[in-house]
Amino acid sequence: MEKITIAIDGFSSTGKSTIAKQLANKLKYIYVDTGAMYRAVTLYAMNHNLISKGQFKKNELINNLNKIHISFKFNSQLGFAEVYLNNMNVEHKIRTIEVSELVSEIAKVSEVRKKLVEQQQEMGKNKGVVMDGRDIGTVVFPNAELKLFMNASVETRAQRRYDELLKRGDKVTFEEILKNVKYRDHVDSTRLDSPLIKAKDAIEIDNSELTLNEQFEKIDKLVQEKLRNV
Ligand code: DC
Repeated sequence: MEKITIAIDGFSSTGKSTIAKQLANKLKYIYVDTGAMYRAVTLYAMNHNLISKGQFKKNELINNLNKIHISFKFNSQLGFAEVYLNNMNVEHKIRTIEVSELVSEIAKVSEVRKKLVEQQQEMGKNKGVVMDGRDIGTVVFPNAELKLFMNASVETRAQRRYDELLKRGDKVTFEEILKNVKYRDHVDSTRLDSPLIKAKDAIEIDNSELTLNEQFEKIDKLVQEKLRNV
């Protein structure tokens, strides 16, 4: 059967990666979490004292971009690919609130975006990919056969992220998470380079009131319909 490209965009914590992983597993497609790539660059910048609250050595980061190598390795126990920064598994480290608080600044930098978008396009060049992020349907794969735009109320999204972090044992408050989700929504959708916007041909899914199963069924139907018509 012919393979397609599935682009999943949307605001923070809308469950994009959950649905993307499920789809990729079912279709035997590659899953690429592009947010993880921006998070890995952020972690590199933090580890090299290039960014912290209130300071950002942007030019130094740009000059060091060629030292940042991001890759994914499939973990068969987890059932998805984990992200590596310069050959170190950083899957856990990139999900902290500290990274979440700085990542939107990093994602504004055009040179960072250019580097990551090129890598994303290379990873998806043979189709058979489910990619989630903010600009997949608009910039990375504007010709993707299926584009989804995920949404949910900001409270629902903050609650989901909060529950996720608590489960991992992170010490965070709900207010802190809500503030971060609102802040990232704002910065991600107002930045000059590739802001988060719904592609004209994307199908919007509001999952505030949907269970994971309901959501999967709904999206799986759309995928099957597409596959029948390519
Ligand atoms: O999906 P996420 O929350 O892990 O993404 C982290 C940040 O990375 C998000 O706040 C904005 C940025 N991002 C982006 O600018 N473009 C993408 N394609 C993916 C993420």
